[in-house]
Amino acid sequence: MRTVRTVRELREALAPHRRAGRSIGLVPTMGALHEGHLSLVRRARADCEVVVVSLFVNPTQFGPSEDFASYPRDEARDRTLAEAERVDVLFAPPPEEVYPEGFDTTVTVGGLTQVLDGHPERRGPGHFAGVTTVVTKLFNMVAPDVAYFGQKDAQQALVVRKLVRDLDIPVRIEVCPIVRDPDGLALSSRNAYLSPAERGRALALSRALRAAEEAVAGGAVDAGAVLAVAREKLDEAGIEPDYLELRSASHLSGVDRVNGPTLLAVAARVGGARLIDNVVLGEGVDEREPSPAGRSDES
Ligand code: PAF
Repeated sequence: MRTVRTVRELREALAPHRRAGRSIGLVPTMGALHEGHLSLVRRARADCEVVVVSLFVNPTQFGPSEDFASYPRDEARDRTLAEAERVDVLFAPPPEEVYPEGFDTTVTVGGLTQVLDGHPERRGPGHFAGVTTVVTKLFNMVAPDVAYFGQKDAQQALVVRKLVRDLDIPVRIEVCPIVRDPDGLALSSRNAYLSPAERGRALALSRALRAAEEAVAGGAVDAGAVLAVAREKLDEAGIEPDYLELRSASHLSGVDRVNGPTLLAVAARVGGARLIDNVVLGEGVDEREPSPAGRSDES
């Protein structure tokens, strides 16, 4: 595995592969690699002849009160993990390589970035502007055939797909399933902030999603009823969510029924960690007939 720090070195490392017509897969990360990231790397390794992992804690996607300074960083550990997964190129640029003096361009995606985490009272659309700007740069730097993102950041994955479609960026986006610990906690670099007690409380997020999933499997369709079931699990753990919302899984528009693929997304602060998780409900359920009035799952 070669570690490169500049765009020039990166392009030099990739040039022979590109000339030979080899497929290039990119896994963009902010480091602090865990099994979730490694599942993306393994998928890239299986699909592509050359695998690039980028490791860059992107300052522009953190708000002023967020955890940029304390975000876990351990490049030596990340390098060992990447090497073990047979990554070809680790691109670990310093901030000034990505944002040189005078850098003054922002790439923004519209409506999808205004809701959930993009709501002005939460991380805000500026968070996604930071993501789409750096992801556009990474796509231009690496010019991958395929790029891999995790479903855990479901909104980010939709935003990146829209970015690629709207700007005709020639890359295929693959979104890979959420990886969970055996007890259900979705893997996240921010789990490192949780004390053992907080980690226990954090399990309420996945429990809430599972309860909603079971309710829908049992025939519930009304958004209020599904959200109430999920909310109960958060309440039991004393967790007040930043949001717990049902939205169409493709456009993030608000829904009042689970009527086809519907994203149930949750964000909550547990101790010092802001955690997000989600599940897609009603997959394969197309245009359900409204339930007859008065059904118990609708009350
Ligand atoms: O998902 C992440 O880790 C980041 O948002 C990404 C895509 C690497 C951009 O900084």
